[in-house]
Amino acid sequence: MATNTNYNRETTAQEVVDAFANEIKGKTVVVTGPSPGGIGYETARAIATRAPKLLILAGRDMKKLEAAKADILKDTPSANLALVTLDLNSLASVRSGAKAIAAAAPQLDVLINNAAIMMCPYGTTEDGFETQFGTNYMAPWLLNNLLIPNLLASPAPRVVLVSSVGHRVSDILWDDMGFSGGKTYNKFMSYGQSKTASVLNGVALAEKYPKLTVISLHPGAIHTNLARHLTEEDMKGMVGQFFNEDGTPKPGVFFKSIPQGASTTLVAAFDPALKTHSGTYLTDCQIAKVKPTGADPHLNISESDFVAPYAVDKAAAERLWGVTEEMVGEKFSP
Ligand SMILES: NC(=O)c1ccc[n+]([C@@H]2O[C@H](COP(=O)([O-])OP(=O)(O)OC[C@H]3O[C@@H](n4cnc5c(N)ncnc54)[C@H](OP(=O)(O)O)[C@@H]3O)[C@@H](O)[C@H]2O)c1
Repeated sequence: MATNTNYNRETTAQEVVDAFANEIKGKTVVVTGPSPGGIGYETARAIATRAPKLLILAGRDMKKLEAAKADILKDTPSANLALVTLDLNSLASVRSGAKAIAAAAPQLDVLINNAAIMMCPYGTTEDGFETQFGTNYMAPWLLNNLLIPNLLASPAPRVVLVSSVGHRVSDILWDDMGFSGGKTYNKFMSYGQSKTASVLNGVALAEKYPKLTVISLHPGAIHTNLARHLTEEDMKGMVGQFFNEDGTPKPGVFFKSIPQGASTTLVAAFDPALKTHSGTYLTDCQIAKVKPTGADPHLNISESDFVAPYAVDKAAAERLWGVTEEMVGEKFSP
């Protein structure tokens, strides 16, 4: 159980960091994807207000990182910030980013994997992996593994994986993870698969490294730049899931503000009560229930507070780890 059972979809980032200020003070924290206008930025801004030793902002665009830094310093002039270039579209960039983070943080306390893309047209990463799987899952998998020695140097290390309720759109497509080189590509399934892989990554890391606390989560539905690849047609289809024809929201639909959208990540990163819940998945700042076996695990928009059983299956997590090692061409084990 999380410390504050009253936290819910309306809890804000600032409320969480104020409550867990003692857990943030003096820590070294990495946030990936902190571009202004997104959840990662608000996550970093809120952390900076509570005196971390060092806050590392890791992203692919140095101009956006500089803009994020300038905004955070306006809010908290004393914040100690470092910027690291990290493009999740390239494993070489992940390796150089990890090296820079490791040099700045010999002891890394919290690694927040926030960056992702959603529902882009078919493509492949620099290393030939389907873009959403490569960016949202494989690159963070490698980043986390490369930073394990730094995390294990912390007395209470944490890894946070920002997943999505979208994981309930698709299990891992074991026989065709790459969508037959694009022939069978479905951008919704691809996003779902990548976010299921994130949750499974948390389960595997938690099993392999008992010293780590690893938490994955759904942040809620929030207006950000994530929808940049959606077409007008996609929006009409998706909007229809959220709103009635008269424009009123369908039952159970709730859009969060960005401060509300960053709160679950911050609970995952700093709530001391979650130390005994490594490998779990949060939604609305609380541990989500696993959808009962036999019930339809798939996405029903009015019901986002479940994790699909296939995303927290330990055997699937181990299988995916092995497949990923083969794809990356490197083995990582405790
Ligand atoms: N917003 C929602 O409703 C919602 C719902 C469920 C889950 N989520 C999850 O929440 C997280 C944050 O999303 P958001 O809504 O804040 O979206 P966002 O505003 O688009 O932020 C995504 C961040 O990821 C970065 N990123 C994308 N591709 C990258 C790459 N190849 N290398 C490095 N960084 C990359 C972006 O950098 P650039 O600015 O340079 O593109 C940006 O900083 C994501 O994991 C998303 O899947 C969001």
